[in-house]
Amino acid sequence: MMGRMILLVALTLLVPSVTSGPVVRTKYGAVEGVASNLSQNFLGIPFAAPPVGSLRWQPPAEPKPWGSSVYDGTKFKPGCPQVFCDLMNPAMVCPNKTSEDCLYLNIYTPLDAEPSSNLPVMVFIHGGNFVHMSAGSLLFRGDIFVNKSNVILVTIDYRMGALGFLVTGRQSYDAKGNYGIMDQRMALKWVQENIEAFGGNPNEVTLFGQSAGAQSTIVHLMSEKSSPYFQKAIVESAPFTIPFKEFAEAIVLSDYFAEILNCGEGNIACLRTKTAEEIAQAQFKSRSKIASLKFLEEFEPWGPWVDGDEIKMEPVEAYEKGKFFDKPLIIGTTSEETRIYIYEAWKKRVTTPQYALVVATVSPSHVVEILYEYPPDDPTDERDNLALLATDFVFVCSTRHVTRAALKKNTTDVWLYLYDHAFSFPGWEPHFNFCQGHVCHGSDMPLVFQTASYAGFQFTQDELILSDDLITYFTNFAKSGNPNTPGVGKHSSPTKRQEQILNWPNYNSDNGWPLMRLMTPSNKLDPDFNAPYCDFWDRVGYKA
Ligand SMILES: *[C@@H]1O[C@H](CO)[C@@H](O)[C@H](O)[C@H]1NC(C)=O
Ligand SMILES: *[C@@H]1O[C@H](CO)[C@@H](O)[C@H](O)[C@H]1NC(C)=O
Ligand SMILES: *[C@@H]1O[C@H](CO)[C@@H](O)[C@H](O)[C@H]1NC(C)=O
Ligand SMILES: *[C@@H]1O[C@H](CO)[C@@H](O)[C@H](O)[C@H]1NC(C)=O
Repeated sequence: MMGRMILLVALTLLVPSVTSGPVVRTKYGAVEGVASNLSQNFLGIPFAAPPVGSLRWQPPAEPKPWGSSVYDGTKFKPGCPQVFCDLMNPAMVCPNKTSEDCLYLNIYTPLDAEPSSNLPVMVFIHGGNFVHMSAGSLLFRGDIFVNKSNVILVTIDYRMGALGFLVTGRQSYDAKGNYGIMDQRMALKWVQENIEAFGGNPNEVTLFGQSAGAQSTIVHLMSEKSSPYFQKAIVESAPFTIPFKEFAEAIVLSDYFAEILNCGEGNIACLRTKTAEEIAQAQFKSRSKIASLKFLEEFEPWGPWVDGDEIKMEPVEAYEKGKFFDKPLIIGTTSEETRIYIYEAWKKRVTTPQYALVVATVSPSHVVEILYEYPPDDPTDERDNLALLATDFVFVCSTRHVTRAALKKNTTDVWLYLYDHAFSFPGWEPHFNFCQGHVCHGSDMPLVFQTASYAGFQFTQDELILSDDLITYFTNFAKSGNPNTPGVGKHSSPTKRQEQILNWPNYNSDNGWPLMRLMTPSNKLDPDFNAPYCDFWDRVGYKA
């Protein structure tokens, strides 16, 4: 009897300390994570109050402390609401579950990280046209990335689609859009205030993102409110030529959206009664009704708008006018960015007259010049030709333009790349077979995080080397501000090819405008890549 009591007491005393994973104390309370064989992972940590109920269509609010209990940081939280997430291999990119309560972040730290480690921090914003994917997607798992580089990686979610970007008007009760951007900044602020406890250096933060995440990164580079929270940036595949919406266009989209939900135009009270699922469905359907927007906006209908506060002007204009914060920058695109969009938009072959019509729609005042520069070349199907033109116009040359504008501000710390490798595994199946064997938008992502194996795919040896190179360049940059320099002391990179990687000169005319072509079997420098075409687009301009 006595023995049993003692045992019970002993067990009761033991229970609170039975934690199997690493525990870190944040400003809001303690978090228990989970160690894999490669890293310590602290998953699904709230950086804002759940944006639900009266907080829907409001700027993010402070999260509530959870007191003396230990927060379970061993599982991913659901992604933000979305439907028809069918970019790339679904297992790789789509969240298993979604919820309107989705403002969480994930932290990956090296196995031996501790509060005094002072490691560089990289914060990643995922892409997906501001409607798809989530920080927990297999594609963005950080175990390998962190293990190979000895940095701290943070992946964040943010409100997307109508929940993140709806604009119903300018009154106090209206939805005013750009909430997704504010969420991202809230996550950056959380990192400032809490990352030291995980072993991170809050004064050495690199913000990076791909596609919509790259556009977001540019927005933060333009924002005095975001600027204090990060020191360097990596911009992967930003479609600079797709304009952010103006007020009138945002309202057109809002009205279509309200109509689909049987709410009156701008009737925010009615919209507030709809479930997150109904909203996600309606935002998807509104895609087919946006023909009155600018042509290129149809490819990214939901997303930021130029509200004069969060976003003061279009990114291309901001860079031309020097209205950005001068931070070390790695920037680049893939070599066939728009193939996925062209083959999605035109399921059947595009004839030569149709080709000319598309050019006329996008750029009525420059049709003749553009057709002269990119002549029709395949009367049986002009889609490849269209993809070539669109990749230059929307991604490659607009990126070069912004990069050169960034140099005018005095920085020399800019590196430009072209990612030029089509992955070997069937990661585009089943919906995007036309991207198999091509370097479509997003092709770099499985190699940036080296995550293909999580979805059951295998890299070739060359791909592993390219992936190691990418991780080395990006994390060298996070450590030292230079992709070639591995940083000092504890920060030195364990990646075995460190000494062998090709030196990547910074982008300027003295160096002959070097572009790093990231490819297999080995990377190479391509001076003044694509110059005649990009010079042409610089003359025509990037207004669509
Ligand atoms: C880590 O564990 C995974 C399975 O969980 C295994 O596939 C991988 O080989 C392990 N890596 C190392 C370096 O031990
Ligand atoms: C990477 O994983 C290996 C194998 O588990 C481990 O020995 C090493 O400490 C890890 N490195 C980091 C930086 O976490
Ligand atoms: C989704 O489900 C798969 C398979 O059950 C699992 O491996 C993965 O961790 C889940 N993803 C998230 C974000 O929970
Ligand atoms: C430009 O950079 C140089 C060298 O880094 C520095 O001395 C100078 O003050 C900078 N000028 C401006 C306007 O920032």
